[in-house]
Amino acid sequence: MERTWILKLVLLVAFIGYFVEGLGVNWGTQATHKLPPDTVVQLLKSNGIQKVKLFDADESTMSALAGTGIEVMVAIPNNQLADMNDYDRAKQWVRKNVTRYNFKGGVNIKYVAVGNEPFLKSYNNSFLNITFPALQNIQNALNEANVGDAIKATVPLNADVYESPTNNPVPSAGRFRADMNDLMTQIVKFLNQNGAPFTVNIYPFLSLYGNDDFPFDYAFFDGVSNPIDDNGIQYTNVFDANFDTLVSALTAAGFGQLPILVGEVGWPTEGDKNANAGNALRFYNGLLPRLAANKGTPRRSGSIEVYLFGLIDEDAKSIAPGNFERHWGIFRYDGQPKFAIDFTGQGQNKLPVGAQNVKYLAPTWCTFNPDAKDLSRLADNINYACTYADCTALGYGSSCNSLDANGNASYAFNMYFQVQNQDSRACNFQGLAKITTQNISQGNCNFIIQIASSSSSCLRFSLAAFIFLTLSTILFF
Ligand SMILES: *[C@@H]1O[C@H](CO)[C@@H](O)[C@H](O)[C@H]1NC(C)=O
Ligand SMILES: *[C@@H]1O[C@H](CO)[C@@H](O)[C@H](O)[C@H]1NC(C)=O
Ligand SMILES: *[C@@H]1O[C@H](CO)[C@@H](O)[C@H](O)[C@H]1NC(C)=O
Ligand SMILES: *[C@@H]1O[C@H](CO)[C@@H](O)[C@H](O)[C@H]1NC(C)=O
Ligand SMILES: *[C@@H]1O[C@H](CO)[C@@H](O)[C@H](O)[C@H]1NC(C)=O
Repeated sequence: MERTWILKLVLLVAFIGYFVEGLGVNWGTQATHKLPPDTVVQLLKSNGIQKVKLFDADESTMSALAGTGIEVMVAIPNNQLADMNDYDRAKQWVRKNVTRYNFKGGVNIKYVAVGNEPFLKSYNNSFLNITFPALQNIQNALNEANVGDAIKATVPLNADVYESPTNNPVPSAGRFRADMNDLMTQIVKFLNQNGAPFTVNIYPFLSLYGNDDFPFDYAFFDGVSNPIDDNGIQYTNVFDANFDTLVSALTAAGFGQLPILVGEVGWPTEGDKNANAGNALRFYNGLLPRLAANKGTPRRSGSIEVYLFGLIDEDAKSIAPGNFERHWGIFRYDGQPKFAIDFTGQGQNKLPVGAQNVKYLAPTWCTFNPDAKDLSRLADNINYACTYADCTALGYGSSCNSLDANGNASYAFNMYFQVQNQDSRACNFQGLAKITTQNISQGNCNFIIQIASSSSSCLRFSLAAFIFLTLSTILFF
């Protein structure tokens, strides 16, 4: 008895010891059908994931995380940044979404993300003048609430806030973009004053996506024939090069030691010729052992805190950035694994643990009706289906791209039918469609059955937490 117990403890310690230090995942929820938060939290636990980054501070998510000890980055979406320019509103946000959970058995909040890539060029500077005041107000509110020592505000930024000059494209020449230099310097100074990290999202996949001349192997971690030479430092992958460009930019701004946290990094599996499970496996299989080795990059040694993007596919995300946008998940829409990934960084070739006890809709599909007479409205109907459901798997380079015309129609109709929870009215399409109980999947192209939508936005706190909240509401607010 005693011995098995000790053995278990030793194994447990060994397991924790091997885990990639600082590894987290992004948990986004822009899906038509969300897994219940408890199921997702169980998924994190089963895979030993100890940190999670959110895109809001949704109550049902927070209550599922309560008592787990998982470290959490909560977030203020860009559309709330303007509100946070008012200090009283910022204090209210902190009270409602941070300090409320700050009790034993509550949520282990470590960071508040103020906005999400607010300086992306595609936002036309909409958030340029309101991000820094929001950051200041949130951190000051955290400080005023006496939680500022443990909880830091940061702004997850896209990597295009810094660059190297085109005539000297090496990491050591990295600087903040000239048009943003003053603002970035102020932000960095404030982060430094408060002991908060700089958060950056780094996407080797996008380097490849944007540019056919980009050396393919440089997006991964298993070596290249012609590394970039930066004054004697050899760069063999774009992740290191990008990270060190930021280190140089920070150094030039006078804050070369500021901690850097990678808010998002990952690889999608669908929606582009380079987005597939094989490349995702190759990417993570290189990244995770590197992180586990705690070596850092040529310009910044030591461990790096990294949040993978993302946990689960999100079929309701905008595809403005590209068809791949809905397929960043390490897990499918239903929490099942897509490829082998070893979160311990040991490079073992094993599937992660999938979500447990997932409830699906009935095994019923919507298919093109071959008896349909009038096909003149077919394109319009497919278009309609794909406006409200995710058809990105039909595109070039994706798993359903080789379907014939009828297969295309069936795929689109089925996706719409599933999004509509298999409502029979959602499988008509002017007589062009009909319901079937036969699995009409073809080859690698999976005609999915959606999960039964979680209807739980209700709080399911423990009694103790409930009493605490009630008391604190009465006493403090
Ligand atoms: C708390 O966060 C939620 C979810 O992100 C948001 O909708 C709400 O407005 C926030 N509360 C306050 C008081 O700002
Ligand atoms: C940014 O500007 C472009 C061109 O004027 C416009 O098409 C786009 O909708 C704008 N985007 C946002 C987020 O305002
Ligand atoms: C931001 O503020 C600057 C300086 O006050 C001003 O010139 C600029 O127009 C503002 N930009 C936006 C997008 O509001
Ligand atoms: C099926 O749809 C995809 C995506 O819209 C398109 O590229 C392909 O040509 C279509 N195939 C047929 C046979 O119509
Ligand atoms: C339908 O068939 C595909 C391909 O054989 C399979 O992967 C999928 O699990 C099946 N779906 C259901 C609901 O049985």
